[in-house]
Amino acid sequence: MRLGYKLEPGNAALMERAARFRDRPGDDPALREARMLVGLGPGDVLDGRFLIAELLNQGGMAVIFKALDLQNGDREVAVKLPHLGLESNPASYARFMREEEIGLSLGHPFVMKFIGVNGSRSRPYIVAEYLHGDTLADVLGRIRPLPEKDALKFASLICEALEYLHAHAIIHRDLKPSNVMVCPDGSIRLMDFGISYTEAARRVTYCGFSTAMGTADYVAPEQIRGRRGDPRTDVYSLGAMLYEMLTGKPPFDGDDPFIIMNRRMSGDPAAPRKLNSSLSPQAEEIVLRALQRDPNRRYPSAAAMKADLDAPEKMRLTGLCDTLRESTRWRRFLLLARWITFTCVIPLIIQVILFFLLWHHFARKR
Ligand SMILES: Nc1ncnc2c1ncn2[C@@H]1O[C@H](COP(=O)(O)OP(=O)(O)O)[C@@H](O)[C@H]1O
Ligand SMILES: [Mg+2]
Repeated sequence: MRLGYKLEPGNAALMERAARFRDRPGDDPALREARMLVGLGPGDVLDGRFLIAELLNQGGMAVIFKALDLQNGDREVAVKLPHLGLESNPASYARFMREEEIGLSLGHPFVMKFIGVNGSRSRPYIVAEYLHGDTLADVLGRIRPLPEKDALKFASLICEALEYLHAHAIIHRDLKPSNVMVCPDGSIRLMDFGISYTEAARRVTYCGFSTAMGTADYVAPEQIRGRRGDPRTDVYSLGAMLYEMLTGKPPFDGDDPFIIMNRRMSGDPAAPRKLNSSLSPQAEEIVLRALQRDPNRRYPSAAAMKADLDAPEKMRLTGLCDTLRESTRWRRFLLLARWITFTCVIPLIIQVILFFLLWHHFARKR
């Protein structure tokens, strides 16, 4: 047992309360796995302050529990803990702490509120307000496609949160339905700043290709090329989410993330109105404008996208749906050939030339 993780005997009333949350034998395997990954679970008290109540999510890098903040009238909070194996990895530890740094600097009605933990912590973790509601992923799990009016409304609310982030020089970079909570009053909260980028946090290095990049279905082409991105990167991911809300399918699909990303780099998605004929041409145009491969052709900002989302009847249609080019085998081959040329062939030619120059230089001296 690691000191500070578990409830110490001595506070009988708290021990009794905690016991009510403890998992019973034969409980959910997800809960058992989460307990193994982070070394604590329901019924434990973290740093004498957070009584872990239930498992909210078990992700690839962190486990999130609902907990009661005993120092603040038992208010409900969410506690995010990195897997024990990651605590000792400096890059992932730094990234995790950066999420808290970014989160604590934010204050907007549509952005999840982080809660500062003063005093020493026995391990890294992040605390945030507990959000009632369902993630947009849950909503889409039940209803897809969404009615056009609702989809445009959600996208507009997300734009509002993005405008705030971008004004504070933060790029979210991992926009996807599971990172948006839809609250019971119909508002949204943007969550998960795990791979967000801010000028202030340049020093942090990434520990892996996939972890720095977001999720294949929503990631922007420039992110795939390894760029840090700018506000238009988030506009692209929101476009991908809007496409899914309106058509029921993400813009590109495939059996594995690399196929999806390759299709995204080499072609355009199917016209949304081909998948859902009830959509208005305006909704289709908004999605396609946000999903332009070249960032210069996209909405330049979340504010510009929001203007069209809020008043689609006023926008000018430019017929983007007639310019779509499918990702064919031939275009994927060309893309691969270009990539091989730039990353292998050209560096090889440079090395051979350098070798001959050096060889020539030393041969003459002899
Ligand atoms: N504050 C919160 N309140 C309620 N549920 C939350 C909260 N934070 C996260 N969750 C749940 O946990 C899931 C994963 O959270 P997230 O911060 O995105 O972690 P990860 O980095 O593992 O993706 C969310 O999709 C949501 O279902
Ligand atoms: Mg997430």
